[in-house]
Parts: sequence; structure tokens; C-alpha cells
Amino acid sequence: MKRLLVIGIGAGDPDQLTFQGAKAIGAADAFLLVGKGEAKDDLTGLRRELIAAHGREPYRVVEVRDPERDRTASAYTAAVEDWRSRRAEIYESFVRDELAEGETGALLVWGDPGVYDSTLAALDEIGVEFDFEVIPGISSISALTARHRVGLTRVGRPVHITTGRRLAAEGATADDVLVMLDAACAFGEVGDGFHIYWGAYLGTPDEILIEGPVAEVAERIRATRAEARARKGWIMDTYLLRRSPS
Ligand SMILES: C[S@@+](CC[C@H](N)C(=O)[O-])C[C@H]1O[C@@H](n2cnc3c(N)ncnc32)[C@H](O)[C@@H]1O
Repeated sequence: MKRLLVIGIGAGDPDQLTFQGAKAIGAADAFLLVGKGEAKDDLTGLRRELIAAHGREPYRVVEVRDPERDRTASAYTAAVEDWRSRRAEIYESFVRDELAEGETGALLVWGDPGVYDSTLAALDEIGVEFDFEVIPGISSISALTARHRVGLTRVGRPVHITTGRRLAAEGATADDVLVMLDAACAFGEVGDGFHIYWGAYLGTPDEILIEGPVAEVAERIRATRAEARARKGWIMDTYLLRRSPS
């Protein structure tokens, strides 16, 4: 049986790779690297670095260009599903054409494969027979709260994990809201009473952290974000909104 390892690699710092992740990289015969083009080469760079550090020769690296996603589409879910199906085709040809019977392939997934990542859903769509295992990674959520030295959850309280798009549409639906995938600074609309813990490029040399009452720091985050994005060509940021106790 062919085998795939879906390995969480942490959110940007090579030291966030777990021992389990390092062992899994050492167990792979072939790696699939799906590149996003020049702007996001930094992201592929971390994967290459981890393979060079922990891969066991002889191994093969198969590189493929990520299918473009239609970011202008008004039907967001349909656009994501279409992109995921094209990703599934890439995974399928990797398993079918690049792995021999009994071999192990690896996919290095940013952060944790269980947090806002389509890899597992795409593997469900594959038409060839294979076995797979998931190795958890440190997510950007853990990286964010650790760098701000705060807990994700308060004692006995829930936390709502959502996207910037949903925050913009629904507002803050809980006292503690963790927001990812926000290209439009939706925190600006949450109203008074919230504190924000914001982090960009967490775990990398470009890391930026800002925290404070939303009303006081929103403008600074917006300006910092726009400047960093223009300078680097891409940005990944995450934040925790916490309603201050009244
Ligand atoms: C497609 S999701 C992937 C999440 C990833 N699986 C994880 O566990 O963190 C991409 C989003 O994760 C967040 N993210 C990932 N890495 C980050 C980092 N190093 N710094 C800040 N945010 C990050 C951002 O909100 C970004 O829009």
C-alpha cells in the first residue's frame, strides 16, 4: 500500500517543527511541494529548509505550481471548492505517478493540518488507493497566543474561531474571537470594549506584534499591515479579540 504523511510544520519558525514531524520527514521517500509563485516563495523556502535538515537520502522532491484561485469570485465557497478539487488532482497524480507500491510520500502543511487547511478535505476526493496519517503541527493560533503571552481560552469560557470574512458579516458573536484569513481588517467593526492581540509573520524574522484596545490600535494595525504587505508582497496575520470584563 502507498502511504502519505500529512505533516504540520508549524507557522513559520523552523524550530516549531515537532520531533514527530521531523521523524515523519525522515521517513518519506518523496515530498510534494506545491509552490505559490514568487510572492510566497518564503513559504516554500521553509519547507525546503525542513526537508534538507530532516529528510533522509535518497529522497525525491516533486514540485508543482499551485492552481490559481479566483479571488474575485462572489461565490466564495464555490471558488474554494473548485480550487480544492484541482489540488486533489495534484495529490492524486503524486500518489499515482510518483510513489511506487510500499513507498511513503509527504505533504508539508503550514501550521496544523486541522486548522483552516484544505489538504485533508482534498485527500478525500482522491480516486486512487492509499493510506495516510496526519502529524499535528503548531498552528498560528498557538504561535499568536504564546507570543502575546496570553491564553487562547479564559477559565471555563468558550472561544470562537472564525475568518475575517465572517467577522465582517456577523460581527463578534462571542467574547473571545480568534480571527484568521482576514484581508480586510474586519476588527475595525467590532465596536468598543474589545482588546486585540494581533500578530503578522509569526515565528519569522519579520514578525510584528501589536496589542491594545481596538479603538486605540486599529489604525496602527491597518497602517503597519498595509506597509508590510506592500514591502514583502504578501502577509499572513491572525488576531484574538477579547471583550474586556465590564
Ligand atoms: C490557510 S490558513 C492556514 C492556517 C494554518 N493551517 C495554521 O494552523 O495556522 C492561513 C491563515 O493562517 C494564519 N497564519 C498562518 N501562519 C501565520 C503566521 N506565521 N503569522 C500570522 N498568521 C498566520 C493567517 O490568518 C492566514 O491567513
